[in-house]
Amino acid sequence: MVEGTAPDWWAILSDREFLENPYPTLARLRQGGAVQRDAATGIFFVLGHAAFARIAKSTAMGRDTRNWIGGWNDPAYAAADPNGFRLFSEFQPQMINCDGADHRRMRKVYEPAFRSQAMAALAPAIQRRANELLAAMPDSGEIDFIEDFAAPLPLRVLCDLFDIPQSMDSQIAGWSASLIRIGDILIGPNEKLEALQALDDFKSFLRLRIAEPGAPGSLMHMAMAAHSDGTLDEEETLTNLVSMLVAGHETTVTLIGNGMLLLLRDPDAMARLAADRGLMRTAIEEFLRLEPGGNMILRVAREDFEVEGVTIPKGAPVIGLIGAINRDPARFDAPDTLDLGRAANAQMTFGGGPHVCIGAPLARLEAQIAFGAMFDRFAVIAPAGAPQWRLDRMNARGLAHLPIRLEARV
Ligand code: HEM
Repeated sequence: MVEGTAPDWWAILSDREFLENPYPTLARLRQGGAVQRDAATGIFFVLGHAAFARIAKSTAMGRDTRNWIGGWNDPAYAAADPNGFRLFSEFQPQMINCDGADHRRMRKVYEPAFRSQAMAALAPAIQRRANELLAAMPDSGEIDFIEDFAAPLPLRVLCDLFDIPQSMDSQIAGWSASLIRIGDILIGPNEKLEALQALDDFKSFLRLRIAEPGAPGSLMHMAMAAHSDGTLDEEETLTNLVSMLVAGHETTVTLIGNGMLLLLRDPDAMARLAADRGLMRTAIEEFLRLEPGGNMILRVAREDFEVEGVTIPKGAPVIGLIGAINRDPARFDAPDTLDLGRAANAQMTFGGGPHVCIGAPLARLEAQIAFGAMFDRFAVIAPAGAPQWRLDRMNARGLAHLPIRLEARV
């Protein structure tokens, strides 16, 4: 890159125009190289698919942010931002923040809940939850697709999976909304305090739940068993549960909401999918690729790592910009086009390697059921106003509101 033209990454990534439509800017930034170092912060940004696929999969690149030289675990940071330090420390003991043996020990506890047999067993309950929400919709009229369907569905499914009473769902949604901001660089001092409070309250609630037996097969039951046999200590048990409830909620809302927006913008694609449900599996992959929701996937180098001629030194943070990676023309034909039948769709929205999203099978299943249920009930699904993006976060691109007009099948 020519001296003097280095991008001001944080100004660009938090700009309102970027938050509303990041893709033209990401395409321009990618021309500066697949891996670029931000001189101001020392962060390596990854915009190329091949580079990120190698980084995500390598065990030389971890997710333990305590290894970030100059990051939150640095004594200077703790002195400058004690609340931030407390928040990140209290959120640390969970699988996504650990590498190696600790990571494997924690992940193994929950893996059985997401295997294909478990998903097949869960499908009827997800369908039932979707039908309940559809039953509350008019045969003809307007709804807010986010508030009335995309947001409540994943929350109800998670409560079922965790064996948490439905009466807690708005409380969980509130805690989740405060905690999702932890991974966001736009988080301000007040939001850190809010997140700390939410974390304490959420853990207190779960502490009482894990003292009860829990329904066999539920995530709560698995957590409790792993706690009783000493596989997980109490903080690990609670933090992993909190994190899964947070990680599994807004991300799936976003997949369903953003997927619907893509279809509303392309009525031919909407009609094609409604008529041919055999396309559902590849359509969901394409939604994930084009509008990934989560924009940034983090790594911290555990040792020096060379990729595409760039050396990432041990202790350096790396951020994969998924909106750029998933539209890399070197990997995808017509990368900005919605292609419901796209073959070999190597989208990286769930990350990759040892930390690849454990809940991906659940998110995919929920989205398939959600769109299938909408098409079964409604012959017409059309825009009814401007979609409204959430603009208060850099790491998660999702809709606050999506007005749609519906006409039921006769
Ligand atoms: C569309 C929905 C979802 C998206 C886009 C998403 C995305 C991600 C991403 C990007 C990662 C990090 C991967 C990496 O670093 O390579 C991750 C990890 C994780 N996700 Fe998801 N996720 C989704 C749904 C879920 C659900 C439904 C759950 C659970 C109920 C869940 C639980 C987790 C957990 C526990 C991890 C940490 C895995 C580990 O470190 O081994 N996610 N997810």
